[in-house]
Amino acid sequence: MGTLPMRTAKLATSCGAGRWREARLGGSKLEGDKRSRMATIAHRQLRLAGRMSHLGTESAFEVLVRARDLEARGKEIIHLEIGEPDFATPANIVEAAARALRDGWTHYGPPAGLPQLREAVAEYTAGQLGIPVDPSEVVVTPGGKPVMFFTILALVNPDDEVLYPNPGFPIYESMIDFVGGRPVPYGLREEHDFDADVEEILARMTDRTRLIILNSPHNPTGGVMSRAELARLAQALAGREIFVLSDEIYSRLIYEGEHASVAQFPGMKEWTIILNGFSKTYAMTGWRMGYGVMRADLARQVALLMTNSNSCTASFSQVAGVEALRGDQSSVDRMREEFRRRRGVIVEGLNGLPGFNCRQPHGAFYVFPNIKATHRTSKALADALLNEAGVACLAGTAFGKWGEGFLRFSFANSVENIQRALDRIRSWVKKNGE
Ligand SMILES: Cc1ncc(COP(=O)(O)O)c(C=O)c1O
Repeated sequence: MGTLPMRTAKLATSCGAGRWREARLGGSKLEGDKRSRMATIAHRQLRLAGRMSHLGTESAFEVLVRARDLEARGKEIIHLEIGEPDFATPANIVEAAARALRDGWTHYGPPAGLPQLREAVAEYTAGQLGIPVDPSEVVVTPGGKPVMFFTILALVNPDDEVLYPNPGFPIYESMIDFVGGRPVPYGLREEHDFDADVEEILARMTDRTRLIILNSPHNPTGGVMSRAELARLAQALAGREIFVLSDEIYSRLIYEGEHASVAQFPGMKEWTIILNGFSKTYAMTGWRMGYGVMRADLARQVALLMTNSNSCTASFSQVAGVEALRGDQSSVDRMREEFRRRRGVIVEGLNGLPGFNCRQPHGAFYVFPNIKATHRTSKALADALLNEAGVACLAGTAFGKWGEGFLRFSFANSVENIQRALDRIRSWVKKNGE
């Protein structure tokens, strides 16, 4: 199929659903039989279900593909686009997985997760947040991301409104749209230090609000919700039967103060789904393991969605997950301290660039500099930095329209590479800036 001559394939655009598309392979020397077979293979019209048009994407993966493509053509790229720790998974966890494989943890397990991991997650979450958690309230999933999908599938009916942060992780809006819900964005503002403004959330709530999504520490801004704002939100939600999906995947990556969760406030645990996982805390992005903590009746429904989709999370990964949560935590502290050092380097470097103004993020491993004074759009600047300076980053608009005027850089890369990236951007700005 790769040999199909692109230059000559011209599609009839008016064909009806389910019919073969007609391919005019003008000038081709292909024999009739072979020619019609290739045309058939290449141009059978793909008739998708309508819901697919509502599905969004995560641009980080697209930029990564473009960057890899440039690399394949000989260009050297510094990767500050993708949100994953560059550290190896701690050795004790790798060893636990290897042992689990040898011991035969290579078969299906219960859809909600292995009992020993659900217990470990319950104990860990109770210890972290100081709230009681029972293993029946835990569902283990392949990565934290499915918790978004499953919760929204389980709770949101068509036309139900869901509040979510903008800029924010793009999959929230995608999933809300996909299930026919109404996405209602709330802003995260630079002048508010990217802490969610509860007044704004409350102002956007209506009788149709079914779910509010919070993310702290926040991707892409590095903002952290203060205990005071969470308390105000919890108070306002009392008795309203509105669920909160609290994405706490970066909760161990906080540089000032302590992590707080809305689930800690009186009456809120019953209405909160905590999304957490191993990807960011233990540098385990490729292991695909996360979990949700939620009331047991909802956990049973989410487990049913697991039965219908993945069956279960990989068993040997789960055995290693117990080691991650219960074993030595010093590598988590070391990674966080290294991220803190990198944060200092990148914030100072960006603030030294004309047209850039960068706040110090309080959590996660992203900076979200304001680039409005460069007089370029986020997308134009991100594209130019990739293609001309060899630095991959994301446009703020990859996280929603209110991300215009910002870029996102991940500092999950070495200090040396961050400094090289800053040098490249500096030279580029010198040559191309106003
Ligand atoms: C805010 C946020 N939530 C959830 C996830 C998903 O994490 P996982 O890789 O465990 O699915 C990410 C990953 O980038 C994220 O940034």
